[in-house]
Amino acid sequence: MRILGIESSCDETSVAIVEKGETILSHVTYTQAAMHAEFGGVFPEMASREHLDQMLPCIDKALTDAQLTFDDIDAIAVSSTPGLMGSLLMGTTCAQTLGFCLGKPVIPVNHVEAHLYAASMGNPKLYPALGVVLSGGHTTLVRLESSGEYTILSQTVDDAIGEAFDKVASMLDLPYPGGPEVERLAKTGNSTRFPFKAGQIKKLPHHFSLSGLKTNVLYTVEAHTPLSLQDKADIAASFQRVVFEDVYKKAMRLAEMHELKALYFGGGVVMNSTLKRVFAQAPLPVYYPENTLTLDNGAMIAGLAYHKKPATDFFTPSPRSDFKQKNVE
Ligand code: KG4
Ligand code: ZN
Repeated sequence: MRILGIESSCDETSVAIVEKGETILSHVTYTQAAMHAEFGGVFPEMASREHLDQMLPCIDKALTDAQLTFDDIDAIAVSSTPGLMGSLLMGTTCAQTLGFCLGKPVIPVNHVEAHLYAASMGNPKLYPALGVVLSGGHTTLVRLESSGEYTILSQTVDDAIGEAFDKVASMLDLPYPGGPEVERLAKTGNSTRFPFKAGQIKKLPHHFSLSGLKTNVLYTVEAHTPLSLQDKADIAASFQRVVFEDVYKKAMRLAEMHELKALYFGGGVVMNSTLKRVFAQAPLPVYYPENTLTLDNGAMIAGLAYHKKPATDFFTPSPRSDFKQKNVE
């Protein structure tokens, strides 16, 4: 079973061919990050136009790199939710057109579930497990029963973790995307200089709140302006420490309560080396996606699609995450 996976939910056009959900035969990613950098975030209209230009060359290259033709492909998978509407439409229209013209099944895949699946690709599958999604749109902890089967245990009530990184970066005059910049700056910072606190919600002790922390950082920036490079590094390091310790504490509590066997991480923020240092002390196995599978990519879409059913009819992409609607306390 060979699946061609298409990812275009945000600012990466990515196509991969994956066999039996695990073996990556080819993987082509075109990133638009540099193009959006001058706007301090993704410019949705430009993103979808760029997907339009890049999609077919990426598909061609994925087939050529794998030395395959469409005849060798069993199904087309596509990221169908959540994401930017125009960007999603490029991928889903392309996938459905290919499916229709080639007579192949089309499998819509939830982008966030795919981020989590990426950590299990090439790794042991120890279930039930805790899935930890840390991305630009999510701070979500789930109980994973198997590949792509889960219930949500906790999530953010305001800012997602990557969003908070990006906003703190912007307060420190760092370019977009801010996460890697904050991490780089934090390396020379004193992580205990500023006593920041992550939000705690009384009735929802495992949920996340970062808006108070963000305001705290803003007031600190204002109080110390003009900031020296050392001030900026100390703010970045203190912010990172507090955020990751909060995730660690809540993740460990849930893992213990649910007697979970392993942790699988997904989302762009898991590129962060401080996060990995904090979780190195976890008393259970911790799996991260390989670097090429961490940011938005087509391989995780093609991989997870192997465990999902094809759509029976044409479908419309949804910009909002249905990942949130299955919430359980
Ligand atoms: O998963 P992703 O590629 O896109 C979403 O689906 O949201 O994640 C992007 C997010 C951005 O907010 C970016 O700043 C953050 O991941 N990020 C990082 C790092 N690399 C990317 N955050 C912290 N440390 C990093 N090294
Ligand atoms: Zn993503």
